[in-house]
Amino acid sequence: MATSRKKSDIFLYLVVTAVFGLATFLFWKFSGNHIAGQPSFAGWWRIPWLVLLSGLGYASIRVINALLFDFAFRLRQGYEAPTLVRNIFTLVAFLIFFLVVFTRLYQEVDLGALFTTSAIFGVIIGLALQDTLGNFFAGISLHADRPFQVGDVIVLGAQQLTGVVEGITWRAVKIRTFQNHIVLVSNSSTAKESIEVCPRDNLNARLVFFNTLYTDSPAKTIHIVREAIREAENVSVKITPIVRIRNLGDNGIDYEVKYWLEDYAKYNDTDALIRQLIWYALRRAHITFAFPTRTLHVERRGPTPLATGPQKEVIERLSAVDIFAPLSNEETEKLAGGAVRHVFAQGELVIRAGDQGASMFVVHSGRVQVQISDGGKQRPVAVLNEGAFFGEMALFTGEPRTANVVALEETEVLEIGHDAMKHLFETNPDLAESISWTIAERRAGLEASSQQAAAVAKAESAGLLNSIKRFFGLR
Ligand code: CMP
Repeated sequence: MATSRKKSDIFLYLVVTAVFGLATFLFWKFSGNHIAGQPSFAGWWRIPWLVLLSGLGYASIRVINALLFDFAFRLRQGYEAPTLVRNIFTLVAFLIFFLVVFTRLYQEVDLGALFTTSAIFGVIIGLALQDTLGNFFAGISLHADRPFQVGDVIVLGAQQLTGVVEGITWRAVKIRTFQNHIVLVSNSSTAKESIEVCPRDNLNARLVFFNTLYTDSPAKTIHIVREAIREAENVSVKITPIVRIRNLGDNGIDYEVKYWLEDYAKYNDTDALIRQLIWYALRRAHITFAFPTRTLHVERRGPTPLATGPQKEVIERLSAVDIFAPLSNEETEKLAGGAVRHVFAQGELVIRAGDQGASMFVVHSGRVQVQISDGGKQRPVAVLNEGAFFGEMALFTGEPRTANVVALEETEVLEIGHDAMKHLFETNPDLAESISWTIAERRAGLEASSQQAAAVAKAESAGLLNSIKRFFGLR
């Protein structure tokens, strides 16, 4: 479209040049004012000569301008020359042409003296064109600096005028706002303002905010939202969106989503799409948006309610742990009643080696890794999945924790304290023995390779049983 318009422009200028050329030729031929093939520039004939030659010159300069910038410039540079550059070219070329023609026609006029002596003329012109010249030179500096280009999104000045740059003329920057209005900001104002530029050929990012209730897991929320938006339209696939906690707010957890756009000029639509996708994703995952909340703690007096919901889950989990298998239903329920639930984020330490410990843990959901320090680095010893237990060594022997235990993903553990275990030992004497076996095996695993481990374990378990019994005051 644009090229065909440029082509028709060139054609038009060619026609105009031809018309002016023909008119000049005819005027020269029939004016009777030429001697031996040379036009004579004298008397009133000089005025039509000046008009005709100026017209011819102007049309020729436009043809050269079109040829130069529409074809040569675009071929070599790969993009269209700015209008301002083209206009300056036309203006300067025409001024030179006009002065040459004028000095040829009016040889008796001393133009140099006219310009240098006419100080008043200069002052008048200067004052009259103050703003225009200001814009003109600001426009030139905008072109030289190239702080932004056509197609870039800019945010201008304290008023935060935002839109897509449509053009930079000798007078103003033309911005199309997101309400599809055209705003013209004079070049001199633009040069004075602070400008935030989001270049067209750059991966620009946006932030979108949302929040959830405190009861919803951050790890789950972050995963779900990131997956829901990463392939949305206009979201760049080159950088994975980031979802992170921005604030622990009054009403819930505040999150921010940072994503990068293919086409920044469409950020309003994409922001809206992202918000919509977040709503659906959270809905599917039963995660709730935060609303103004107050937490009320109600103390309930009377008989303990029957195990329901989460408590039931805990009972089921504990009864599936191998060392608790021999326990009766009542004993398991009692154990569950005393267990405390804790959630750890990926990478968090559940147990630190060397600490004192008076409780053990059962993995309720997720996974943990047992690590020991080896030459300053953490070396993994074992990974414990749902239903496995850990922390029993310090609990049953009274010694410091033997290893670090780290959550490999978001992990919920059930903590069982010293008193609860003591009670169980009294009614289940075999429990101490099976635990002493596990401890012996794990100790051996910490120290040696798996082959030696069995032998070490057997030798150690008898001694351990006695020390567990002693530590818990059992017979
Ligand atoms: P504790 O010493 O209290 O704290 C660290 C825990 O890591 C330890 O109890 C065991 O429960 C666990 N642990 C130590 N070594 C091993 C191992 N080889 N395999 C599995 N778990 C282990």
